[in-house]
Amino acid sequence: MATRSAILVIVGISGDLAQRKLLPALSQLATAKVLPEQFMIVGITRRSDVTIEPLIAGASDQTYLREHLQLFQMDLETAADYARLSDHLVAIEHQFGTAADRLFYLSVPPQVSWPIIELLGKAGLNSVENAKLLVEKPFGVDIASATELIEHINAYFKPHQVYRIDHYLAKETAQNLVVFREGNTLFKRTWNHDFIESIHIIASEKIGIEGRGNFYESTGALRDLVQSHLLQLAALTLMETPPPDQFEDIPNRRLAALRQLGLSPTLPVLEAAQRGQYAGYDLEARNPGSTTETFVSLSLASTDPRWQGVPITITTGKALADKATEIRLTYKQDRDYESNELTLRLQPNEGIEVRIWTKKPGYDAAYEQHGLRFNYADHFDNLPEAYERVLLDAIKGDHSLFASSEEVLETWRILTPVQNAWEQAGHAGLIIYPTGTSSQAVTTIPPPA
Ligand code: BG6
Repeated sequence: MATRSAILVIVGISGDLAQRKLLPALSQLATAKVLPEQFMIVGITRRSDVTIEPLIAGASDQTYLREHLQLFQMDLETAADYARLSDHLVAIEHQFGTAADRLFYLSVPPQVSWPIIELLGKAGLNSVENAKLLVEKPFGVDIASATELIEHINAYFKPHQVYRIDHYLAKETAQNLVVFREGNTLFKRTWNHDFIESIHIIASEKIGIEGRGNFYESTGALRDLVQSHLLQLAALTLMETPPPDQFEDIPNRRLAALRQLGLSPTLPVLEAAQRGQYAGYDLEARNPGSTTETFVSLSLASTDPRWQGVPITITTGKALADKATEIRLTYKQDRDYESNELTLRLQPNEGIEVRIWTKKPGYDAAYEQHGLRFNYADHFDNLPEAYERVLLDAIKGDHSLFASSEEVLETWRILTPVQNAWEQAGHAGLIIYPTGTSSQAVTTIPPPA
């Protein structure tokens, strides 16, 4: 259990994230009895018609939330309202009988976050001991805006106060990647270019943009999933793993891996970075002729000698045949039947599978590939949701599953040539794929002439 008293201020309590992820996660943490004994959630809203009951409808322990969630109505652009908020937090601390850690979770779009950060700072809410700022992606839209955002945050909060959330880092299966690599000699010793032929990180989604046209038009798959979640999975796959007693060094090791990563140097940018859009997307997003990509396939390479010559591919897309997030490592082969494939499946059906060759029983010398599988579901009832871990680690002050500002800048550095090339290319090279296409098939469709 986290021991210090804490107040979690959620800015944007009536938003989708708070209702679908944050409040259910807090309820689970309460059930697991890991929240501080003295804990209060203050949900900020600018609307006067918001009430608690509909917000907590999706949570398992509604009784806990009824007792520990308060609503606070304020205008996020009015400085005086931050002074009122400050008084309100002091009043909660009086009830606790002690000072509390204060966490400000900005669950609002980036353009709304910008003035909030400033006004929190100007109201002195940044300087109280143990004030923490939790920010959601997108961390800028390119390297220039990310740099500005980081400078803006740095003007009011110190680096150790800032928690940049990438919920993929907090997925149980992503955390297991480090343990799997470090704890299994068989894989630890062969995790390099001598044995591995190629690495493929895939995040295929069945869903389309689900009514988020405005958001997606200003985002696209590259910014939405690649810049954050998938480059972080690449970093976890490529980095040097630390020994178990030094896991707090993981962010530095992810950063070192990102610094060595770039687009494949042997391909022209438009071949190394292929993009597609599902048919009908532009009308759904109410922007006929839009060039926003809903599919990306990037060919990358690392300058780390460990990964010399190993192609690294990241593929993601919406409205594809299935939902699957996987890291696939293909091992080198000397003969046809000798290659193995290791799949780390992040979701759904979380697990690990190694494809091995066996002799087919019988009188002939015939070989077959089969899978050795570990499925989480066979051993564990359910896995914690990533947001449970995000919230608990921020309360405890553990930064290892959050992205540092340096990591954010590195990921934008990797993507800058892609953003420039696509901007210049307009529609050229944009593949239009039917919804339900498999992620492998998209890049085989020729773009419209
Ligand atoms: C979010 C993206 O960060 O991640 C969404 O904005 C995407 O577009 C989602 O659907 C995928 O998350 P998960 O955990 O469902 O794989």
